[in-house]
Amino acid sequence: MPDLVIKNARLVLSDKIVQAGLVIEEGRIKQIVSDPKLPQADRVIDAHGNYVLPGLIDVHVHLREPGSSSKEDWITGTSAAAAGGVTTVLDMPNTQPPTTTIQTLSDKRAIAKPKAKVDYGFHFGASLDNLDELRRLEDDIASVKFYMSVTTGNLRVDNDAVIYEELKILAKKGILATTHAENRDMVQYWLEKLKQKENPTAVDYADYRPNICASTALNQLLYLSRKAGSRIHFCHVSTREEVNLLRKNKREGVTSEVTPHNLFLTKENIKELGNYSKVNPPLRSKQDQGTLWKAIRSGVIDVIATDHAPHLLEEKEKDILSASSGMPGLETLLPLLLNEVGKGTISLIELSKLTAGSPAKIFRIRGKGAIVEGYDADLVIVDLKKEAKVENEKLFTKCGWSPFDGWKLRGWPLKTFVRGNLVFDEGVIGDTLGKEITYTKNEE
Ligand code: NCD
Ligand code: ZN
Ligand code: ZN
Repeated sequence: MPDLVIKNARLVLSDKIVQAGLVIEEGRIKQIVSDPKLPQADRVIDAHGNYVLPGLIDVHVHLREPGSSSKEDWITGTSAAAAGGVTTVLDMPNTQPPTTTIQTLSDKRAIAKPKAKVDYGFHFGASLDNLDELRRLEDDIASVKFYMSVTTGNLRVDNDAVIYEELKILAKKGILATTHAENRDMVQYWLEKLKQKENPTAVDYADYRPNICASTALNQLLYLSRKAGSRIHFCHVSTREEVNLLRKNKREGVTSEVTPHNLFLTKENIKELGNYSKVNPPLRSKQDQGTLWKAIRSGVIDVIATDHAPHLLEEKEKDILSASSGMPGLETLLPLLLNEVGKGTISLIELSKLTAGSPAKIFRIRGKGAIVEGYDADLVIVDLKKEAKVENEKLFTKCGWSPFDGWKLRGWPLKTFVRGNLVFDEGVIGDTLGKEITYTKNEE
């Protein structure tokens, strides 16, 4: 007898939506069949006619352990993921210590394993002096991340020769490079100017880190990666200039992501959010925002990823220069997007491609990212009619705040399954554990 049957569902497949049920055995989708043909099972869940999406894959999160567990840890961060319909997270390497050696990677694995509520993978960090570690890397990481300029953490690789050498190592191994593309010299130059300004504000912070910081770095990396022959994925694309460069230079192996905060917030929100708006790259103009929306629909940008970057209230409340940069996003990503469905901005099929299908393809995640027979039963049941407010008090993230606090949204996840285990059930987190993902080989 199968372990689980989900009946009365509308399944969001990659090219169509079908009314059908799911038969789940040993954590995998065994069969997609019409409701009358569903077998008996140990457990039957009635989706009540709601939509079922493939669980979201968030390729850009900062779960903060080791080193900054006051901001977030692997339990709270992955609980936030489960509550947001996110069934796989890829964790960034700017922890303390940073994940820049085989040893620190294995230490992080040991931290995550007994805590994670959803499935997970790791990005490795490039630094100025870890070429030998990169040469020793096995193909069991999501990517190697290149931080081009100052942001949270001390992880940086701000030397083009080293970047080029490291990209060549990755090209040989077939490992993906991911990047925080902001030009270090430009960022530093205007940051110094900002420091000289009297009483700088959160609006100034965004103005002193203009679009060209991002587009110059992206342009340089497009060239370096092409010369090195490596695949490259651009994190948090935020400007129309970057979108234009990507459109003109789109080739096999060049991909990118956009954050929900750049899709749903602009400079116009900074006054009301104050230092909570501080993030790298910063919030941009309405015009940039419009271009980003067009880019996700036309396929110039491939993925929506949160850049979930929790910081404590007291760290955000400092003066704008000392305040931490980054905002949480795991619990609001899906409701924000579901709230758009039916308005002509995004369809469920597009949403699912941007948050599950494409992430799985780009990061070569085995058996995930779609509702397909044989794939992991990573699923989220969503109610498109449910209306609720984002409330700081109800969040699972340890930082306890969201830039979207008070936003009334229509469309919420009800139940989240990771490999058939119910990890989120209408407000309650389950007690099963997530597992580290595996990767398909390049040839597959
Ligand atoms: C991120 C963080 O806090 O780790 N901060 C941010 O402003 N986005 C780091 C990063 O992704 O740049
Ligand atoms: Zn970044
Ligand atoms: Zn980040």
